[in-house]
Amino acid sequence: MTELPTFPMERTGKCPFDPPPQYGELRDQEPISRVTLRNGAPAWLITSHEHVRQILADPRVSSDRTLPGCPRLIPVPPSVMDPRSRPLIAMDPPDHTEHRRHVTAEFTVKRIQGMRPRIQEIVDEHIDKMLAGGGPADLMEAVARPVPLLVICELLGVPFEHHRTFHRIGDTIVHGDSTPQQIGAAIGELRAFLNDLIIAKENDPGDDLLSRLVVRYQEAGEYDRERVISTAQILLNAGHETTTSMIGLGITVLLENPDQLDLLRNDFSLVPGAVDELMRYLTVADMALFRTATEDIEIGGTVIRAGEGLIALGAAANRDGSVYPDPDTLDVRRNPRQHVGFGYGIHQCIGQNLARLELDIAYTTLLRKAPGLRLAEPVSSLKFKTDGLLFGLYSLPVTW
Ligand code: HEM
Repeated sequence: MTELPTFPMERTGKCPFDPPPQYGELRDQEPISRVTLRNGAPAWLITSHEHVRQILADPRVSSDRTLPGCPRLIPVPPSVMDPRSRPLIAMDPPDHTEHRRHVTAEFTVKRIQGMRPRIQEIVDEHIDKMLAGGGPADLMEAVARPVPLLVICELLGVPFEHHRTFHRIGDTIVHGDSTPQQIGAAIGELRAFLNDLIIAKENDPGDDLLSRLVVRYQEAGEYDRERVISTAQILLNAGHETTTSMIGLGITVLLENPDQLDLLRNDFSLVPGAVDELMRYLTVADMALFRTATEDIEIGGTVIRAGEGLIALGAAANRDGSVYPDPDTLDVRRNPRQHVGFGYGIHQCIGQNLARLELDIAYTTLLRKAPGLRLAEPVSSLKFKTDGLLFGLYSLPVTW
């Protein structure tokens, strides 16, 4: 019997932004295939655009992390298994439908667009400070890390002064090397902090998302503090690490594709389209889409049995040449409709319009304020985060 390939696979291609070369090979030869995870457990890997969307829209898959077959890509501490403290991303209908409804009410297009002036102010402030300090500077430290965290803290009504703690906790949770104990302790620390914060909001609600969420649940007669803590936790974590990665990697990719960068510099109205193309091209949350089949599912001529775990590989789907011609080329005018960089189906990213707005403002402002922006070191010497749930950069030395 031939040995199954191991997952995660390594990014060994010539271009550092390309997914592991095996993704394309599997997509072409066996789009529904078996792999072995780091912990020795088997899982299905789904690599074509059609099948990734099909499986993510299938009601016979579950996001419940407690199911024995659920692929464990990072260690999961027992505290995360408690059904009462389960975050939205790990819930199934009908619970998921019910709780997601309360949260989406906060992410209306109108409310997000209303945040534009304040996000612009935050971005201006951080870029101006970096430029005033003189180059070279670390763009991750100066802009990409603080901006999304500050935006999500202000939206939620979480004091930004604890930003170092939030970064440390976030890093521990998504980092491939963390032990279950370290992840458990980090989540415990964050939940204790959020518990006190939410009690304060119950007593004296302010004009912020978490206060409004408390009131919304109370008015519906469904208030449970543990639930609000879990929602706050997922919004805080999902709401900044991802956008941070996209700011850093997105700018690096643009600097490495000067023809595409020129297109944007000559016509800034192309930036929103470029944001989605960069989301497709980079698929930073590549390993976020894991599920367990709750019934036998026939897909692409293969049967995934009830109880078996599967990973819908967003980066493979987003580089599927049958949907995106010349898929490994960045084309900011492409209009990459139906990319799965924000997921697909009932769990599709709640913060996607906020993320798009932040990225639009961050890219546009950087390119306008620093027309000579360039890497201070060759791309080959950059250290990429490839060992955790999120693709990203540790640091990004730039000058201008
Ligand atoms: C570029 C930035 C972002 C990327 C790449 C991203 C990616 C994703 C992906 C792939 C999923 C689907 C997970 C699944 O199906 O299991 C997701 C879900 C989610 N995202 Fe994002 N996200 C981003 C920004 C944000 C922001 C800014 C927020 C909050 C303000 C946010 C909050 C959430 C939440 C709460 C979910 C869970 C939704 C559910 O389970 O119903 N994300 N995100």
